[in-house]
Amino acid sequence: MDNVNEFTKELLEGIKKPKLPKAYSLWGLKFNPFPSAGLPRFSSLSPLDADVKNKMKHFIRSTYAATKEEEYAGLTIIGDFGMGKTHIMKYLIEQINLLNEASLKDHNINFSAITCFIDKPEDTPQSVVHKIVEQIGVDNIRKYIGRIILDRFKEKPDTFYDRFRPMRSTLFLKPKSDWKKLFDEPAASNYLEFLTVFTELGGDLKLLQEETRNIIKEMVVQDSTLADRYLDLIFEEKKANSSWDILAGYVSNRNIQKKEVMFLNSVVKILMQVGFRQLYVFVDEFEDVSKLKGAKLSNYLITLNTLINQEKKWALVVSLTPEALRKIKEESAPLYDRLTSYKINLNQLDTKKANTLLTNYLNLAREKESISISPFVEKANKEMLKTSKGNYRSFILLAHKAIEVALATNKKTIDEKVVEEAKELRYDEE
Ligand SMILES: Nc1ncnc2c1ncn2[C@@H]1O[C@H](COP(=O)(O)OP(=O)(O)OP(=O)(O)O)[C@@H](O)[C@H]1O
Ligand SMILES: [Mg+2]
Repeated sequence: MDNVNEFTKELLEGIKKPKLPKAYSLWGLKFNPFPSAGLPRFSSLSPLDADVKNKMKHFIRSTYAATKEEEYAGLTIIGDFGMGKTHIMKYLIEQINLLNEASLKDHNINFSAITCFIDKPEDTPQSVVHKIVEQIGVDNIRKYIGRIILDRFKEKPDTFYDRFRPMRSTLFLKPKSDWKKLFDEPAASNYLEFLTVFTELGGDLKLLQEETRNIIKEMVVQDSTLADRYLDLIFEEKKANSSWDILAGYVSNRNIQKKEVMFLNSVVKILMQVGFRQLYVFVDEFEDVSKLKGAKLSNYLITLNTLINQEKKWALVVSLTPEALRKIKEESAPLYDRLTSYKINLNQLDTKKANTLLTNYLNLAREKESISISPFVEKANKEMLKTSKGNYRSFILLAHKAIEVALATNKKTIDEKVVEEAKELRYDEE
């Protein structure tokens, strides 16, 4: 955590573990850095293969850069269980967030992207789209549409009185000079405030709604039904939980897939209008797709087909086991072809990569970074590699246990004998 500020520091004070609860300090370590749960915990640790790194760089560049030589809107990460698929996705998300932050600090950098992470792709396609919208935030979407509309209104503020006062004059109508309030704060930057002021001025809401509808149709989506949904969304404030229902009503009808694509397209269009340059959707396999059958399998395939977008409106990252990919090839060859047009294969650890992995984790717990694998010795590394067959998860688990065993038995170094003992160790710590 590099970006810890004072406030976070104070909060952290209260939840700190007692200092050095175990004698890891014997080896100059502050804690056992190897996660015992086998799940990605330190997603800032970089991939070990140069090839993987290069492809990730290329993918990010080709999905956001203004000048795209070769562009890919999709990336498929292939690897067996525990080989780091989820880790690589989390790493990519972290990099994207860092680029976002960098762009906020430095005006020469133009990067602004939104990421969504989906880990249950076998759900119905609607619920996957729901998750994407949920992660962006329905409220944010509402605000963004509000911004698009207000920006348009601001182009001709003086014409407002003449365009939107009621046809028949009423007692409620305020004089023209009052109408400039519409373009002062807070109305000028908040659509709901704008509506309140507009109502107080005695403006014709129906006319305004009609105009808003036209703007949505022009700027966001031409489809009338969907445009109306968005209109409902911004006019229907404060009804608890109604927001998603309003949008979902649109996608849960017939012709789902086409509608979902249009829906996602419109969401992306909204994002682009307010300055985002890319939407990255991550779909982590989570469950073993190769074992899916019937409705779950077809949902999964439909979802992927929906999300893969040939128009390159958003960028899709999918993770899969080789087994699942084989199954997809059997079920749908075109989907397989699209998925494999740009891919990363995660391969087993070898001695050199295992060495770097050990160092990377150990450095998390060291006062000062170093390239040594101490307290591990080279033979321990070899033994762990052999036992884990180069699988990241089991290698890391073994390293975690080896540290605990060495600690319990007061070893100065971790050699192959400690690793042998660690193999036998069974316990659940986290
Ligand atoms: N480059 C890396 N650096 C550090 N740790 C890594 C790296 N790659 C993977 N790991 C770690 O290895 C473990 C297993 O990785 P991960 O959970 O990503 O595998 P997976 O392929 O998603 O497995 P599954 O198919 O079971 O979901 C995690 O603890 C993860 O943090
Ligand atoms: Mg995973």
